[in-house]
Parts: sequence; structure tokens; C-alpha cells
Amino acid sequence: MSYEVRMDHNMKMRKEMFTSLILAVVLIASPSTVSALAVSPLSDIETADLLFIREEEKMARDVYLVLGEQWNNPVFDQIALSEQKHMDAIKKILDRYDMADPIIDEIGVFGDPDIQELYDALIARGMASELEALEVGAFIEEFDIRDLWEAIEHTAVSKIKNVYVNICEGSYNHLVSFVDQYENLSGLDYEIQYLTPEEFEFVCEADTHSRPMKAAFLRRR
Ligand SMILES: [Fe+2]
Repeated sequence: MSYEVRMDHNMKMRKEMFTSLILAVVLIASPSTVSALAVSPLSDIETADLLFIREEEKMARDVYLVLGEQWNNPVFDQIALSEQKHMDAIKKILDRYDMADPIIDEIGVFGDPDIQELYDALIARGMASELEALEVGAFIEEFDIRDLWEAIEHTAVSKIKNVYVNICEGSYNHLVSFVDQYENLSGLDYEIQYLTPEEFEFVCEADTHSRPMKAAFLRRR
């Protein structure tokens, strides 16, 4: 092969390689390929947690909407709005992982029979008096916080963990609001319903804790 022919051959090879490289980059960068590559499959427990928490947040929202109307107390309506945001945050994760949404779009109706049973019992209790309704609110928040802590421990996916932590911090504020309202209205001390005294104290003082301290508390549990 003469020098010119060899050079020509080498140039042609390089051009072909360059074209293949461009094609590969275009394929990798196409939106569908990027989203498929961006997430790896979740474990069964991670999937179950997401589905459960999406419905659990709806249960909180629905209970507060119904009790807010019953007692004409704006604290329920304000917190219901926040629960809707929590539901939306979980929905974004479900979409990201191409998971079907378990929500039934009707107030007080749930796919998970345990959540349905809990909703029915809490509504019956909250309809009895405004004080009972505030205790129901506080119970829901204590219950949610425990589930969120467990879900945080079950996943190593930082995007999911961060969403749970944000929902948890919202729930701490909700719990404090319900407890304050209960104590102001009744003149009694609120009695813890679900968390341990140590956990309850941590939650009530959560706004004074730094993020690393909160993370350390979660790891210690
Ligand atoms: Fe909440």
C-alpha cells in the first residue's frame, strides 16, 4: 500500500469511528434512554413503602378535609393542603419509576383495606367532638412519622430518602400544631398515642435540631 493510499485508508477508518461515536452519544442522550438509565429497579420493600405512603398521605388529607368541615377549624384545612403536597411528592417518584398509582380519586375511599379500616375508625372518633378530632390529627401524624422513619431506613436511594425526610419534617410541624390546639382547647396535657416518649420529645423539638443531628437520631433508632 502506497503512503497516499494508506493515509487515505486511515482517514476513512477514523471518519467511520467518529461517525459511530457520534451515533452512540446521540442514542445515549435521547430522553427515553436517559430516563431508563437514570433509575435502577427498586426492592420489594421500597416499592411497598412508596405505595403505602402515597395512600397514607391521602388518608391524612381526607380525614382532615372531613373533620375540618365538621368542626369548622382551619387547622385541618391548612394541614390538608400540606398532605396534598406530600401526596404529590410521592406521585413524582411513582412516575419516575413508572409505577401505577394506587390512589382512588374519591374522598374516604382506599385500595388498601388496612388504610380503609383505619380511616373509617378515625372518622368515627373525630366526629364525636372537636377535641377527639384534634387527637385524631395528632394520632395520624405520630403514625405517619413512624412509617416514614421505617421507609427512610429501607432505602438507599437518596432522592427517595430526601422526599421522605421532607415529608417527615412537615409531619413534625403538623403534630405540634394538633398538640398545641388540643392543649389550648382542653386545658389538658396531650397524651402520646403511638410514639415512644423519647421519639415524641425529639419530634416536638425537631425545629431546633440540625440536619446531621436528625440523621443521627434516625440511624440510632
Ligand atoms: Fe401530616
